[in-house]
Amino acid sequence: MSFRNFAIGLTVSFGLAWFSVVVLPFFKLRELSPVSFEEGVDPKSGIYFPKTTGRVVDGARVYAENGCYQCHTQVARPTYAGNDLKRDGFAGLKADPDRGDTRRESNPFDYVGLDFAQIGVTRNGPDLINLGRRLRATYGDEADEHLYRHLYDPRLDPAVASWSNCPSMKFLFEKKEIQGQVSDAALDVAVEDGFQIVPGPAAKALVSYLLSLQHDDVVPSSMNYAPVVPGNDG
Ligand code: HEC
Repeated sequence: MSFRNFAIGLTVSFGLAWFSVVVLPFFKLRELSPVSFEEGVDPKSGIYFPKTTGRVVDGARVYAENGCYQCHTQVARPTYAGNDLKRDGFAGLKADPDRGDTRRESNPFDYVGLDFAQIGVTRNGPDLINLGRRLRATYGDEADEHLYRHLYDPRLDPAVASWSNCPSMKFLFEKKEIQGQVSDAALDVAVEDGFQIVPGPAAKALVSYLLSLQHDDVVPSSMNYAPVVPGNDG
């Protein structure tokens, strides 16, 4: 084989893969055009285009900086690639108290407005795409407190996860002297007398972001790749 053929072969084999895995998806996904709800078919009308607030974007940066994506995915896989829809709370809630079955596969709009679509590298810890909804369903108004405690020390509650290898994010919290009353934001954790542990700005942004991870909004039926099929609601 001549060097010329070798070089062409090499370029074509790597070039094709690069083109279809990097270039094509980039151009297909970078300009998402809004999708309309269909009257009569969808429970809503108008245009579907979720927005992301600044604080959530800040939190997403803290998430990225701390490598959370190394162990946590944020994607409810299409059913042909996994059984996420059937996992409790992962892809929505099977019995949402307000809306009934909200399970669906992820779509590109789930990452709108963020610097990165943090779909994750491995699923070492649980998937987080529906974390906010899942925690609110379990802890109600105390979902944020639960998250702060988890971030401070994932092994705080041995009954839940003494084995957890989720890293502690203690450095996002501040130890402050109690001046007068204990702050409302103070964590219920052991600390020396006269002091309290309160979340710092990065911890607050991160918790806003984590709680914003909800996979339960109504999406146009044209985009809902996992509509509830009667008789197949397992
Ligand atoms: C080394 C792998 C690893 C990294 C890195 C990691 N986690 Fe985890 N995480 C886990 C594992 C394993 C669990 C399951 C055990 C538990 O609940 O503590 C978990 C659980 C969680 C939970 C509870 C999920 C639930 O469904 O209740 C949250 C929230 C969480 N991690 C957030 C984070 C955040 C935020 C970061 C980045 C600051 C992070 N994790 C980084 C491994 C990791």
